[in-house]
Amino acid sequence: MKTRITELLGIRYPIVQGGMMWVGRAELAAAVSNAGALGTITALTQPTPEALRKEIGRVRAMTDQPFAVNLTILPTIKPVPYDEYVQAIVENGVKIVETAGRNPEPYMPVFKSAGIKVIHKCTSVRHALKAEALGCDAVSVDGFECAGHPGEDDVPNLILLPAAAAKLRIPMLASGGIADARGMVAALALGADGINMGTRFMATREAPIHENVKRRLVEHDERDTALIFRTLKNTSRIFRNSVAEKVLELEYKEGATFADLKPLVSGERGKRMYETGDTEDGTFPAGLAIGLIEDIPTCAELVSRMIAEARALIHGQLAALAHEN
Ligand SMILES: Cc1cc2nc3c(=O)[nH]c(=O)nc-3n(C[C@H](O)[C@H](O)[C@H](O)COP(=O)(O)O)c2cc1C
Repeated sequence: MKTRITELLGIRYPIVQGGMMWVGRAELAAAVSNAGALGTITALTQPTPEALRKEIGRVRAMTDQPFAVNLTILPTIKPVPYDEYVQAIVENGVKIVETAGRNPEPYMPVFKSAGIKVIHKCTSVRHALKAEALGCDAVSVDGFECAGHPGEDDVPNLILLPAAAAKLRIPMLASGGIADARGMVAALALGADGINMGTRFMATREAPIHENVKRRLVEHDERDTALIFRTLKNTSRIFRNSVAEKVLELEYKEGATFADLKPLVSGERGKRMYETGDTEDGTFPAGLAIGLIEDIPTCAELVSRMIAEARALIHGQLAALAHEN
């Protein structure tokens, strides 16, 4: 299944696992890459640039296939030494970086001079075009369905992807709301060159998080996410648990500020939740795709099933529609 994305990234299938705070560790990234897709470790999951160097080494010990490092540039509670994380990426010979959060302009010269392919993840046509103008090699366009930060425009992928495809020249990944072959084939029809998934990859055997979190994704459906931080213009789509409900109540009834909400949404609390499996103890991102997750396969099972079903869909149902009579 060759597309501009498989050619650009040197991968077998046009499927990418997006960066995921606390979840995107070497075990998951290597399993995804070994399955023929692109695995990604998340730089800021590592507490220091030195720890990121070690994590890159751990991925290499588990796969000889291409993998990426996600660098999320968002306002954080504690200041992050971004330059040092970038140095760790470049000096360790990483070949693919996924940037997100803010435009990657300050780091483009160093990435480009190291021959790194940059995929910028963004949530609007204008930001995708800006990434193209900055020299990014591809964009990952995240629709309103996505886990994490969908932006403030609220445009779902049925509209956003073809609108972006009409204007972009560089390859585009469709991101947000995809969990199976149907979403993948639809995204390709809408003009994408491949897909990016987060939530679906959380519910895999190799995702290094407590089983309870994975089970919640299977048990719950597409109505069980919440959009927090809307009142702060920093919307985040998360799993709808009692902590998410509390955040919404404070935002909408009491006009809470970020400082008021911080104790509920802190990264440390989220990290602990993934370790203990107490899914009412913190918040975690999850997309509308939870409505489509019914099992916890290995990454290899997931990827090969999606590819087999995509082929069947294209050659079967869709090909049948193309016959004139
Ligand atoms: C648990 C989790 C953590 C995430 N953390 C990050 C992150 O740190 N940086 C980032 O750029 N995207 C992050 N994302 C977003 C994903 O990379 C991806 O864009 C998104 O999940 C796509 O939507 P989907 O979940 O519907 O597939 C996260 C997603 C999840 C589910």
